[in-house]
Amino acid sequence: MKPSICSSIYLLFVLLPTVISHNYSDALKKSILFFEGQRSGYLPREQRMTWRRDSALNDGKNLNADLVGGYYDAGDNVKFHFPMAFSATMLAWSAVDFGSYMSPADLRENLVALRWGTDYLLKTVSQLRDRIFVHVGEVEKDHQCWQRPEDMSTPRTAYAVETQYPASDLAGEITAAFAAASIAFKRYDPSYAQRLLKNALKTFNINGYGDELLWGAAWLRRATGKASYSKYLVDNRHSLGADFNYYEFGWDNKVGGVNVLVAKEAFEKNVPEIAPYRDTAEQMMCAYFPETAGPHMTYTPGGLLYKPGSNILQNTVALSFLLLTYAGYLSKSSQQLHCGSVKIHPESLRHLAKRQVDYILGDNPMKMSYMIGYGNHYPRKIHHRGASSPSIATHPKTIKCLEGWNIFASPKPDPNILVGAVVGGPNVDDKFVGGRNNASETEPTTYINAPFVGLLAYFNANKKN
Ligand SMILES: *[C@@H]1O[C@H](CO)[C@@H](O)[C@H](O)[C@H]1NC(C)=O
Ligand SMILES: *[C@@H]1O[C@H](CO)[C@@H](O)[C@H](O)[C@H]1NC(C)=O
Repeated sequence: MKPSICSSIYLLFVLLPTVISHNYSDALKKSILFFEGQRSGYLPREQRMTWRRDSALNDGKNLNADLVGGYYDAGDNVKFHFPMAFSATMLAWSAVDFGSYMSPADLRENLVALRWGTDYLLKTVSQLRDRIFVHVGEVEKDHQCWQRPEDMSTPRTAYAVETQYPASDLAGEITAAFAAASIAFKRYDPSYAQRLLKNALKTFNINGYGDELLWGAAWLRRATGKASYSKYLVDNRHSLGADFNYYEFGWDNKVGGVNVLVAKEAFEKNVPEIAPYRDTAEQMMCAYFPETAGPHMTYTPGGLLYKPGSNILQNTVALSFLLLTYAGYLSKSSQQLHCGSVKIHPESLRHLAKRQVDYILGDNPMKMSYMIGYGNHYPRKIHHRGASSPSIATHPKTIKCLEGWNIFASPKPDPNILVGAVVGGPNVDDKFVGGRNNASETEPTTYINAPFVGLLAYFNANKKN
C-alpha cells in the first residue's frame, strides 16, 4: 500500500466519531471485583476471585499487634498504609458522590471493598498508644523475590511511628478515609459509620501539617458539618504552600482533591472564607481545557490526560474523577465553568471525563483495554506476583523466593486473570509494549481502580455523554 493511501485511511478512522459503546456495567463490576485479588489475610467464604488464598496471617506479630488483613496495594506483597488509606478514601468518595448511580448490588460490592480497607485501617490506629502503623513487610527483601502472597518467605516486619512525627501525613490520610467512609456507611450501617467517625476524630487530633491534614479536615467537615473544621480549612490553607502544584491529584498529592471537595460547600452555601478553595478548583478545571488561557494539563496525541512520569493512568483516573465530580457541583447549582472570557458547560467536563474512561477501556491507538479481563484485547503478562504465578489451587507446592523469577521471565501469559485491574498504561506517545518487567506499564494498583469505580458508575447510568 502506498503511504498516501495509508494515511488517508488512518485519517478516516481518526475523524470518524467513536462508535464503540462500552459495557460500563461490566467494567464497573470488574473494577470492584479487582479488590478481591488484592486482599491480604483470611479470605471469606464469599471470595469470588478463588485463585487467591489466605496469606500473611502473622502480620503484626513482631510488635505484638494484629495487622492481618487489608490490601496489597499493587503487584508486590508489602502493605503500605498510606496508599491503602487513599484507596479507601476514593472508594468511599465513589460511593458518596456516585453511589446513587449504582445498582444496589454494585453499591453493596463497593461498600464491601471499602470495608475490607477500613476494617484494616482501624487496626493501624487502635493498637498502640500514640503510635500509628505505617507499613508491613520489608520493601527491599520483598522485591528480591517473585512470590505469590500465599508463599511469602520474606520478613513481615510491621513498622510504627510516633504520631507527632512524620506520620502526620498518614494520619491525615487515614482521617480522610474514616470520615469519607463514615458518610458512605451512614445509611447502611450506622453503628459502623459512628465507629469510623469516632476514629477519624481521634486520628485527626494527631497534630501535623500539609495537604493530607487539610484533606482530613475537609472530609471531617463534610462528615460532621462542624464549624471547627471549616475554620481549620480557612486558617491552614496557607500550609498548601506557594510552590504546590495545584493541578495534581493522586495518592501523593491531595491538593486538587481538597479544593474540589471544599468547593462543593462553596457552591451550596455562601461562605466567603472558603471561596479561595473554589477559586483554585475552578482554575484547575480550566487547566483541563486547552482553549483556555493559563497553565494546562498535558494530553497524549491520542487524547489521554496524563502527568509526566510512570504509571500514567494513576493520575488520569484520579484527575478524571475530579472533573466529573466538579461537573456535578456545577450542574446542581446551574452554573458553568468560567475561564477568563471562556465559559464551559458542565457537559463538556463530563464529555472529557468520558473520553478518558473510553480510552482506558479500548478507544485508543493500541486498541487495547487497560482493564484486565475487559473485552478481548488486554495485557496478558502483568507486573503482579499473584496473577503471574500458578494458583495454590492447581500448584499447592511452595514456590520459593528466587524460583519465582523463572515465572517472571516466562513468555507464557498469566495463568490467573486479575479481573478488573487497571494497569499503569501506555507511554506518553500512546504506545504500549507490555511485559511483566515493565512495572510502569503493567502494574495495577488499588489507587487507580478506586476512583475508576465512581467514574464507571456515573457513565453506566448516563451513557449519552
Ligand atoms: C455487558 O456485560 C455483562 C456481563 O457483565 C453482560 O451480561 C451483558 O450482556 C453485557 N451487555 C451488553 C450490552 O453487551
Ligand atoms: C517500559 O515501557 C516504556 C514505554 O511504554 C519504555 O519507555 C520503557 O523503557 C520500558 N521500561 C522497561 C523497563 O522495559
